[in-house]
Amino acid sequence: MGVESRSWADVDRYLVQQTCAEDEALSAARVTSRAAGLPSIEVSPNQAKLLYLLCRMIGARRVLEFGTLGGYSAIWFARAVGDGGWVTTLELEARHAEVARRSLAAAGVGGRVEVIEGPALDSSAALIAAQVEPYDFVFIDADKPNNPRYLQAAIELTRPGGVIVVDNVVRAGEVADAQSRDERVLGSRGVIELMGADPRLDATALQTVGSKGWDGLAIARVR
Ligand code: SAH
Ligand code: DHB
Ligand code: MG
Repeated sequence: MGVESRSWADVDRYLVQQTCAEDEALSAARVTSRAAGLPSIEVSPNQAKLLYLLCRMIGARRVLEFGTLGGYSAIWFARAVGDGGWVTTLELEARHAEVARRSLAAAGVGGRVEVIEGPALDSSAALIAAQVEPYDFVFIDADKPNNPRYLQAAIELTRPGGVIVVDNVVRAGEVADAQSRDERVLGSRGVIELMGADPRLDATALQTVGSKGWDGLAIARVR
């Protein structure tokens, strides 16, 4: 078989099948999201499993997520922190939050996930003002133009040694276009440049291909 006849999605199917196949609750969350008309933009199972493993590797007990959608990634985070752990996830759309709460409850983890409705900029500012216990792991996956602002909030909310991951930073290569006027690309460039330059962080960024096309993740450890 020639390399041209294979696709990123075919390889993802194989990798997912062998290493991180979904159980009932996860496929049900995906089905529930589609049935409710939510966009099909949750992380892929192997991306979700990477986030889950990163949480497990640092023994994360508290996770903060920007951008809940239907709760797919939040279920993985709830499993990573385990019984006694806590997940806070921020979502603008009331309808998305409602679908997420339903799927989180159906997955049996509703008791350790708080879905906070409203603009994540406001919700994260409120968490900072309330001096909540610091998070071990933060996943930034909401509206892309605000990524630099979300990173600043995330740094304030993460303990030393904690990890911050930003989704969708490559956007089919557009991130390398210094001339781009697309607010989402500017948001990705902004967050990458901040992550590279901020003395409080130790960062890297990786391109990814697969069922979600050509994109990438930025990952930082808080010093
Ligand atoms: N993390 C999810 C996918 C999130 S998709 C998963 O992998 O399963 C991005 C989500 O961010 C959408 O649900 C969208 O409604 C939400 N969003 C967009 N703008 C936002 C804002 N200003 N504040 C909070 N959430 C926002
Ligand atoms: C989009 C958003 C995401 O978080 C993602 O993972 C893929 C696509 C989007 O808004 O197009
Ligand atoms: Mg995303």
